[in-house]
Amino acid sequence: MSIAEKFVSMEYGPAPEDPKEAISWLERQHRRFDLFIGGVWKAPERGEYFDTFDPSNGEKLADVAQGSAGDIDAAVKAARAASDKWRSLTPHARARYLYALARLVQKHSRLLAVLETMDNGKPIRESRDIDIPLVARHFYYHAGWAQILPQEFPEHEPCGVVGQIIPWNFPLLMLAWKIAPALATGNTVVLKPAEFTPLTALLFAELCQEAGLPAGVVNIVTGDGSTGEALVKHPDIDKIAFTGSTEVGRAIRGATAASHKRLSLELGGKSPFIIFEDADLDSAVEGLVDGIWFNQGQVCCAGSRLLMQESIAEPLISKIRDRMSTLRIGAPLDKAIDIGAIVARVQLDRIQHMVEQGVAEGASCWQPNVALPARGLYFPPTLLSNVHPTSIVAQQEIFGPVLAAMTFRTPREAVELANNTVYGLASCVWSENVNVALHVAAQLKAGVVWVNCTNLFDAACGFGGYRESGYGREGGREGLLEYMEPKWLKHAPKLLVAKTEAVDESEHLAEARTPSVDRTVKLYIGGKQARPDSGYSFPVRAADGSLLGEAPLGNRKDIRNAVEAARKAEGWGKTTAHNRAQVLYYCAENLSLRRSETIHRLAAVVGEEQATREIDLGIERIFSYAAWADKFDGAVHNPPFRNIAIAMNEPIGTVGVICPSEVPLLGFLSLVMPLLAMGNAVVAVPSEKYPLITGDIYQIFDTSDLPGGAVNIVTGYVSQLLKTLAEHDDIDGIWVYGDDATVASAKAMSIGNLKQVWTNEGKTIDWFNPKVAEGRWFLEHATQVKNIWVPYGE
Ligand code: NAI
Repeated sequence: MSIAEKFVSMEYGPAPEDPKEAISWLERQHRRFDLFIGGVWKAPERGEYFDTFDPSNGEKLADVAQGSAGDIDAAVKAARAASDKWRSLTPHARARYLYALARLVQKHSRLLAVLETMDNGKPIRESRDIDIPLVARHFYYHAGWAQILPQEFPEHEPCGVVGQIIPWNFPLLMLAWKIAPALATGNTVVLKPAEFTPLTALLFAELCQEAGLPAGVVNIVTGDGSTGEALVKHPDIDKIAFTGSTEVGRAIRGATAASHKRLSLELGGKSPFIIFEDADLDSAVEGLVDGIWFNQGQVCCAGSRLLMQESIAEPLISKIRDRMSTLRIGAPLDKAIDIGAIVARVQLDRIQHMVEQGVAEGASCWQPNVALPARGLYFPPTLLSNVHPTSIVAQQEIFGPVLAAMTFRTPREAVELANNTVYGLASCVWSENVNVALHVAAQLKAGVVWVNCTNLFDAACGFGGYRESGYGREGGREGLLEYMEPKWLKHAPKLLVAKTEAVDESEHLAEARTPSVDRTVKLYIGGKQARPDSGYSFPVRAADGSLLGEAPLGNRKDIRNAVEAARKAEGWGKTTAHNRAQVLYYCAENLSLRRSETIHRLAAVVGEEQATREIDLGIERIFSYAAWADKFDGAVHNPPFRNIAIAMNEPIGTVGVICPSEVPLLGFLSLVMPLLAMGNAVVAVPSEKYPLITGDIYQIFDTSDLPGGAVNIVTGYVSQLLKTLAEHDDIDGIWVYGDDATVASAKAMSIGNLKQVWTNEGKTIDWFNPKVAEGRWFLEHATQVKNIWVPYGE
């Protein structure tokens, strides 16, 4: 083509990035990679290797070691051996290592970018301008945290040895998101890269050597899902951090249930991209290009569901089609390419299959008339319109360059459609009206909301999901907390629970007829006293074994009713923090009015001294959380773009609570009050030993203006009620105080909707010590951070 012709057509010429350096790096290793364990390269125990390919042309890049359970064991031992020394380094020394890693990433940035593109198929423009700079930024940011950690978190210590499993869509960036905070907080690491994209992690291992990182602090074990499984199951791992599919996330939750491994999960998404009629449509369409065609749509937070206000649907679709026709698809090493290759054949087939299913369910499919390269794995940008909100392509993650479009009429309908998913990772709102945009942002159930922008990330802004998109955050202050725990917790004694066996119901009936009974209580559901569905009660005994009274024997149905009532009361989370504080103060006031009678009743079970302490400290605890209600504020981040990111502490939603048995009143208040203060609705199972405390508690709530349903109380046996609570899909989180077995079963039963589970890990919490039983640690678990990004400037 002549220059004159080019001037007319404005056609791009090829601008290939030179892969020479990356190829010579591969050649230097003889295109064969071992495992990085204890600071050295080790051949895999079983001598097995797998191939990694360039998906843009199908060429094999290298043989990579298939790590076995034995290799994982060696890596965990190396990480354990390095742990004490690494955690006791001075903060400054740790900061220097992280700083060195950041510098080395920058120094080798082009090699890393090219290698990433070759192994993954993503356009070099993205790996060069987005992935690798963010990797460096992550190490810099966390070098900073390492330096100031003891000042900011004096009461915390590292988890210990951390197992990390990452996916193939952002191989090095996900490594950085995992390794940087883990090292900054003093943990050592065993990381398993994804089998399709192991190469940049192996190059990173070299950078660790170059930085002089002590042996064993970072270990890289390549392999497939079975290697990941061995890591998850290893008994000497203290925490697992996983990014990948929701399905594997569930399997990991199940596999770690019986252990005390901490767990953070960053899973799938089906993120809405909402465009209002007053949006700047051209900007919104550009946003959409970054929202769904970035990285071929293989992005957990891809804006894959387009929700358009009906009035603009037609012109918008036409603009989108025009823009799609200009997207350039082809060899990802070409610097002028927008859409590169799909990572692997299996993923390409999955995308194709889902699009076919969508069309079979009534969607119309439009693709621009673009020629795909003859070799390699490519899928054209695809628009599915007339998609029904229940269609598979509107509900399930496609993880490809496929946009599913729907319309809405009002902001309210937009919010309903947006939240009509099991996921909750990210969302976009486009409107020139900041009031509408922020009002909608506040109602979206998602960890990130981008207003008039999309797919922006920064190390200072936590990233992570609501609902089945997982729990825990990566980045920001909140991300650090995933890698630390309170110092006292590790050394806390095991909780020994005197088992209350559920007894035959007919026996209860017989006992309940005993004339000495002087007190009965009811369940408390939706702000009203309620009889149990079973029609049975169970006996409550004093310390001397005499019968004190009877408590209703709650069952599945009562829990379900309580959950329904709690759901209806979620407006509690929307009241002002000031209002919640007032209600809590009022609760404290009402408890103090009933002080002597409550002491008198409680004393029969726990003795006069404990009863007095429980009530006096209980009043104080309520005061504490009334104080916190309007002070546990979020943050405003200033990421390095023209944006502010507003980090809001939002309630989790409806939370189930299994209360301590031995400290009936103070235990209940210590768990329920922080949840209430942060705006959650609660379904609580009170002390099994002294459930009659329910009567005292609901009298307090009834007289304190707490809206009905904000707290619901179902008495009964934990062994019978926990299952319904943990399995219930309308419960967003569950707090369980119990022994090892109870805690393990709560975790195992929570996998259905992947609700957040927070437990005492079978340890004793000294409820009488405010330093451990009160404050930020509880509030952090009672909230989840939502980051709302808002751009400024024209
Ligand atoms: P995957 O969840 O199977 O793989 C992610 C990582 O987990 C890989 O390192 C893999 O080796 C490892 N893994 C697999 N099974 C494991 C197990 N039982 N225990 C421990 N680790 C295990 O994802 P996959 O198969 O690569 O992709 C399937 C679908 O998952 C995609 O189509 C996409 O929808 C979704 N996905 C979502 C990601 C996200 O960031 N949310 C990332 C990757 C995939």
